[in-house]
Amino acid sequence: MKRDLLGLKGMSAEEIKNILDTAKTMKMVVSQPNKKTQHLQGRTVVNLFYENSTRTRLSFELAAKYMSANAANITASGSSVQKGESLIDTAQTINMMGTDILVMRHSMSGAPGVIAPLISASVINAGDGMNEHPTQALLDMLTMYEKLGSFENFKGLKVAIIGDVYHSRVVRSNIYGLRALGAEVAVAGPATLMPPQIEKMGVAAYTDVREAVRDADIVMGLRIQLERQKKGLFPSVREYHKYFGIDEEKLKLAKPGALLMHPGPVNRGVELSSSVIDGPQSVINEQVKSGVAVRMAVMYLLSRGGFNR
Ligand code: CP
Repeated sequence: MKRDLLGLKGMSAEEIKNILDTAKTMKMVVSQPNKKTQHLQGRTVVNLFYENSTRTRLSFELAAKYMSANAANITASGSSVQKGESLIDTAQTINMMGTDILVMRHSMSGAPGVIAPLISASVINAGDGMNEHPTQALLDMLTMYEKLGSFENFKGLKVAIIGDVYHSRVVRSNIYGLRALGAEVAVAGPATLMPPQIEKMGVAAYTDVREAVRDADIVMGLRIQLERQKKGLFPSVREYHKYFGIDEEKLKLAKPGALLMHPGPVNRGVELSSSVIDGPQSVINEQVKSGVAVRMAVMYLLSRGGFNR
């Protein structure tokens, strides 16, 4: 039976650890001058993106090519979606061309879950509305894992996630994944960008960023998702940065050497000051490299039937 990756909700710690250990090996491939492996020899991967992307789309394409798969991209703006073709018809059309893995990004929460049972290709969720972005959280956790050295060190790890929590699919996948590994997650942001009853996901929630960041091991900024926001959720970008942006002064409240992360793309001077983005605690560029490795691992494991060891 084919397997999909629709989200981290319900994924076991063992499955996550298997993906991260596999990705750690794949990261060595990304660092080699010769990046060709035979892991997906002859397989076909299609990226179907209804929303813009730089990191996710390119890293899935490169990951597929590094593993010798055939890789193709299709975006809503340059396809027959513009002539009115439905998502289901588009996915079925791509499936019938011999596709083994369909990587999908869509503005509608749950869209990959609608498509997955209808096609024979494995579906990977590359971000669906405000729901999940599982490979982003996996690459975030890989970056942490490499710094922590062991899965044991996730237990009691304090992770502060700051910003537009309401609209963020990245935060939801990180909460599921990090909690499965035993980390403690705190979220903070303007009250207007905080989902009601977020505490029910097992996190601490604050409207004062300093409270969340104090003594954290990891500080992660989230992008302000202007494309998903109604107007007026915060007074101005300048005020947002003053109260909710991470700068050197706020980062000093975290543990010495705490890692600074952001899924990208960053709005410089809004979610993070340039001084912390380019500072010694930032692992934002390392996250990008982890992204290729995680996507290699996920596609390889799916091609072998799933994430259990
Ligand atoms: N983090 C992330 O999903 O970035 P892109 O939108 O560039 O893919």
